[in-house]
Amino acid sequence: MNPVYDKLSRCYESFKEKINFKPKIALVLGSGLGDYADSIQITAVLDYSEIEGFPVSTVTGHKGRFVFGYIDRVPVVIMQGRIHYYEGYQISEVVLPIRLMKLMGAEVLFLTNAAGGVNYFYKSGDFMMITDHISNFVPSPLIGENMEELGLRFPDMSHVYDLRLQDIIRSTAENLNIPLQEGIYLQLTGPNYETPHEVKMCRILGADAVGMSTACEAVAANHMGMKICGISCISNLCAGMTEQTLTHEEVQATAECVSPLFKVLITETIINIGKDL
Ligand code: HPA
Repeated sequence: MNPVYDKLSRCYESFKEKINFKPKIALVLGSGLGDYADSIQITAVLDYSEIEGFPVSTVTGHKGRFVFGYIDRVPVVIMQGRIHYYEGYQISEVVLPIRLMKLMGAEVLFLTNAAGGVNYFYKSGDFMMITDHISNFVPSPLIGENMEELGLRFPDMSHVYDLRLQDIIRSTAENLNIPLQEGIYLQLTGPNYETPHEVKMCRILGADAVGMSTACEAVAANHMGMKICGISCISNLCAGMTEQTLTHEEVQATAECVSPLFKVLITETIINIGKDL
């Protein structure tokens, strides 16, 4: 058997032994949003460490657990703490939780993150709906023997971010009077922030925001036929765009500062997606 699929299957068996819950929407929480999961109607919690073979996150400020419950009447699974490539995991391990949430039953993947703004029109604290991504700076999670059970060998990536879900996010933000940028997310490996010229490169390539997650997760989810949407919190402008140097603490502080508004946007969007499913 394919070792990646074998591990995924073992994780799924381990989940099934402990949890009886079928989510419709899978939500991944980025930096600054960690406590969002505490505010929903929780029915069960599963620490990553309780799942046999599951990669466990090491970065500070990221809890490692799945939270199951309801947002309004929508059954959701929330990833409180994601796995990052820069932690040293194989890319297949980074996306294992995404694949697992699909096996749990989730049809929709809602990705959030904190990202650096590359677009000169952005300012820190902005929200950016992801309309497409550039993932080529990290390995594709689909490299290796294709798992036919999950999807095609050569999946189309024309519309990774579902157009209908984009409409829902757009109209939700508008109704809430929350300004929303729309743009292209570029994933780099991290963990270092970029040099000013790397930022310039990202801009020339067409990116509006850069970060260290998300795109590889979207690739894996698209492979499995999930409907995907994503919102970045622009926690800072990238290196070279301001006089300031960057620290993880500052990035987190900004993300936390705008998180109350981000949470409202996420909640209302999920309720609206739920009506549409
Ligand atoms: N660069 C890369 N990733 C990030 C940044 C950044 O400036 N801010 C938050 N995540």
